Amino acid sequence: MARRMPDWTPSSWQDRKAHQAIVYADADALASVLKEISILPPLVTSWEIDALRRQLGEAALGKRFLLQGGDCAERFADCRSDVVASRLKVLLQMSVVLLYGLRMPIIRVGRFAGQYAKPRSSSEEVRGAVSLPSYRGDNINGDDFTEEARRPDPQRLLTAYRCSAMILNFVRSLSDGGFADLHNVGYWNLSFAARSPRAEEYQSIVRTVRNALQFASTVAEGPLGGLGRVDFYTSHEALHLPFEQALTRYLPHRSAYYNLSTHFPWIGKRTNQLDGAHVEFMRGILNPVAVKVGPDMTPAELQRLIRHLDPGNKPGRLTLITRFGAERIEQCLPPLAAAARRVGSVALWCCDPMHGNTVKAGNGRKTRRFDHILAELELAFDIHLRAGTILGGVHFELTGEDVTECVGGSSDIREADLHRAYHSRVDPRLNAEQSLEMALRIVQKRQRAGVLP
Ligand code: PEP
Ligand code: CO
Repeated sequence: MARRMPDWTPSSWQDRKAHQAIVYADADALASVLKEISILPPLVTSWEIDALRRQLGEAALGKRFLLQGGDCAERFADCRSDVVASRLKVLLQMSVVLLYGLRMPIIRVGRFAGQYAKPRSSSEEVRGAVSLPSYRGDNINGDDFTEEARRPDPQRLLTAYRCSAMILNFVRSLSDGGFADLHNVGYWNLSFAARSPRAEEYQSIVRTVRNALQFASTVAEGPLGGLGRVDFYTSHEALHLPFEQALTRYLPHRSAYYNLSTHFPWIGKRTNQLDGAHVEFMRGILNPVAVKVGPDMTPAELQRLIRHLDPGNKPGRLTLITRFGAERIEQCLPPLAAAARRVGSVALWCCDPMHGNTVKAGNGRKTRRFDHILAELELAFDIHLRAGTILGGVHFELTGEDVTECVGGSSDIREADLHRAYHSRVDPRLNAEQSLEMALRIVQKRQRAGVLP
């Protein structure tokens, strides 16, 4: 295990180039906020992080499957019980479909309780003759198009910490209180998804799972203990390094540093440079870490990143989240999968079919087509199978709300519908119905490929 490293400290990233870094006008105000955060209680524990790392290691071997999903950018205004509960319900629904269809335990990881900082392709947003700094996520600035709102405000980091803590508290109580228990699968219905053309397919899976649990408890002659219990883990892009550093703590019982702001931080595509600050920071923490892999990464770069982030080649330590787009995956993934195999990497492969498939609709809105998302996923399964590697997880931008941000799916959302309920301030998300349909289609794909009974 990557124990304390002599050449690494929680601040050693500061000697490297930090792409997408935020410049605050008042450095003292930032320092005082960070000091405050650095003594607040951690958001997650090392015990949970270690459990997740073990499970991710099993997913890399094809014994579990990772379902990671949530907002592109969380918003403080969405720190509300209905939004959190709906998002949990859609992830639970998807996971029961995957559990049943893939016949293996599902690891549920939310893009939530901390997914507040956003990298942007362009640092300025221009509207007419006015140019202002881009919106960088709720923990940095506001999205109103005014100079005042767009100014980075360090106090927002404290709000982000508090919202994350409230969301985690609610998610944990729902899990502990039984809401997320498989026996209660009937509570996870979202009213509008019940109207979906796919609703019956889902209900029949729910009936089967319920019957299986009843059968198992009859055989066991009593309640099944923890069998139906479902856990959630959290993840976010570890983009704002001063914040991540403030929540990174040395734990003597593990002789190691953990980033206790989330279980599973990831490095985005725009900050994955081998000699950059983000890779340096992630190198020294004991959390499982993920890195986004895009079309511009070469096989040699991937091998260097693997060696750098996972020198001990430990199961569960490193996840490679690929995001090429349906059109490019066939060209990009095979050489990278082969390169990882050549160095004997045990990294987990996960497919993000969202970020390479963003297009501009006729009306100028950013959208993604259901068919493109599904196509990239299906190709990812096929390519890994051919390459002798395993696709062990999927990564979605989704919400439990009835939004119209991605087009297609069985309810056939059209470009003309996008204005109806487009709430994302950054990337378009699958709505609950599209998300559930995606899970059903993954299972069908696996069954067609003959990989499953
Ligand atoms: C994201 O996950 O929201 C994101 C910005 O992804 P990527 O770094 O892959 O572009
Ligand atoms: Co996004």
